Amino acid sequence: MAATDTPSLADAARGRLLFGGDYNPEQWPEETWHEDVRLMKDAGVNSVTLGVFAWAKLEPRPGAREFGWLDRLMDLMHAHGIGVVLATPTASPPPWMGRLHPDTLPRDEDGRTEWWGSRQHFSHSSATYRRYAAAIAEDLAARYAGHPALTMWHINNEYCTYDWGDESAAAFRRWLQDKYGALDALNEAWGTAFWSQGYGDWHEILPPRRAHYMKNPTQVLDFKRFTSDMLLECYLAERDIVARYTPHIPVTTNFMPFWQGQDAWTWAEQEDVVSVDSYPDPHDPFGGQYGALVHDMTRSQARGGPWMLMEQAAGSVNWRGVNRPRPAGLNRLWSLQAVARGADAVCYFQWRQSRQGSEKFHSGMVSHAGEHGRTFQEVKRIGAELALLGEKVPGTKVDALEVAVLLDWNAWWASQQDGRLSCEVDYPQIVRAWHRALWEAHTTADFAHPEHDLSAYKMVVVPQLYVMTDAAIDNLTSYVENGGTLVAGFQTGIADEDDRVRPGGMDARLRELFGIRVLHEWWPLDAGETVDIEGFHGTLWSEEIEAADGITETTPYKGGELDGLPAVLRNGRAWYVSTLPEPHALRTLLAGIAADAGAGPTLTGLPARVEAVRRGGLLFLLNHGRDAVTVPVPGRHRDLLTGADVTDGVQLGRYGVAVLEAAP
Ligand code: GAL
Repeated sequence: MAATDTPSLADAARGRLLFGGDYNPEQWPEETWHEDVRLMKDAGVNSVTLGVFAWAKLEPRPGAREFGWLDRLMDLMHAHGIGVVLATPTASPPPWMGRLHPDTLPRDEDGRTEWWGSRQHFSHSSATYRRYAAAIAEDLAARYAGHPALTMWHINNEYCTYDWGDESAAAFRRWLQDKYGALDALNEAWGTAFWSQGYGDWHEILPPRRAHYMKNPTQVLDFKRFTSDMLLECYLAERDIVARYTPHIPVTTNFMPFWQGQDAWTWAEQEDVVSVDSYPDPHDPFGGQYGALVHDMTRSQARGGPWMLMEQAAGSVNWRGVNRPRPAGLNRLWSLQAVARGADAVCYFQWRQSRQGSEKFHSGMVSHAGEHGRTFQEVKRIGAELALLGEKVPGTKVDALEVAVLLDWNAWWASQQDGRLSCEVDYPQIVRAWHRALWEAHTTADFAHPEHDLSAYKMVVVPQLYVMTDAAIDNLTSYVENGGTLVAGFQTGIADEDDRVRPGGMDARLRELFGIRVLHEWWPLDAGETVDIEGFHGTLWSEEIEAADGITETTPYKGGELDGLPAVLRNGRAWYVSTLPEPHALRTLLAGIAADAGAGPTLTGLPARVEAVRRGGLLFLLNHGRDAVTVPVPGRHRDLLTGADVTDGVQLGRYGVAVLEAAP
């Protein structure tokens, strides 16, 4: 964890909310830069990220340095009071690197090379790549360390490459030697006695490349852990270089939420600023809930925040099958939602929409329609409102929450393997379903790692944790012993950290905790199939469970093979849910358990699509619906966005937002 004197987002934000985005001016003639600055000032932009994909421009030939254009941009930004989040360009090596050094290119699991011509074509394990990356990071840091526009370092971009090539294979073996010490221990952990996989020499071990049939699951699991660690090594190498030059300037790298390649809990420990790229689908009726989920995860990884929304889209993205724009008001709603949930920086990919290249149909803050387009007009309004909120919000935290949702990359990696009982079970979708139930119940939650201290929470929710360490199991059992309320979903506590099924099919301590005498069989359901349970339907999964003696509070399956057996069990403060209840049922269940645990919603009487979050003593109200609503709020308040005084309630139009401060 970062020491207290390490730089933070506050050092970059300097008492404001940051507003801006990725600025890729190398696409434009220099006249356009001046036009850009005029529009940035007009929109209240106070931060731009420069250089993310500028490696070929900065180093057009091996070892060459072309900094003049960047000098001019840094100066231009400074002259207009716009801070620069300066990126190391190492996510996209120039074509010469691949041509001269094919060893820098990653291989997929079939051994095919990922060539240049796109981006992110680097092998995390390539010594050559790492040498070039360190050199350009060093020269950037040396050149701009003292530049007054520099506010933050942005290392690489969305670290995401896997590599099954030879150099990665050698690194994988070293990583495994560090982890296991002896081959016997590896053979034992991977269960290689099955299918004649026993290793007699370290050189026999490969990354899990294309194989005839299912791969060894623990080998795949370790390869995921290894990949996250290798990418982290790349980040740390560059971070340490820039930090040597500018110990006072915070360093970040932007996460993709729900990305398998990085264990965000581990990575966040190494960042001064935790930042994320969030792209909810405007066409998804629950896009707002997805945004809330990403914000909650990021805030929690930032140890309560503040955190940075590094990228979002002002309009459409261009990587879904069908890409819709954000309708009027939605950009504002989702931007203020990020602030409500702890962000001190609201930024976009990208400032000006490209005319060429792969992302020309991805929106920008300045769209193809230009400054008179709806998108830019809305961006201006958001900039003005963030400036208003900048007087009260920066540096504050979301008010202490009573509910935590547990999340673990190891559980995800291990549960999404070949050879499982149902390919319909998708960990992120399960987490999303449980978070949605809380969101719809107007209950804001933190996320936590299963081994974190949970004592501050009245209720802990485990959507699913297929893999759990002994330490995590002890953590949960003692949480309940100490008065906490725990609700766990199906496939929790099945396997240990080597993906070895625990005796009885579920850890014995957890079975005792939940009041399960025998877990006889798992009964996965087909896509779209439901199972009847008293009072609701279950989806995805069901289980043949025999309750322990004395467990009387159960909700049974009705009909079918599991008729009369418990679907939901309660043992004191511990609840087990052996299916995924349909959305309204999960919401009702969690709301009831939360109420019993003394963990209420943020506000009572909220209309269905209205989100309420308290941050720094302010009450953010966000209407995710298209219909105007009246929100009852007892007492007298001032809406910081309009300056209006409101008594006992506030009107919110379609996608409307109010930020209420209690009147003195
Ligand atoms: C992000 C990436 C940006 C841009 C954006 C488009 O993943 O960091 O460079 O590609 O997606 O949505």
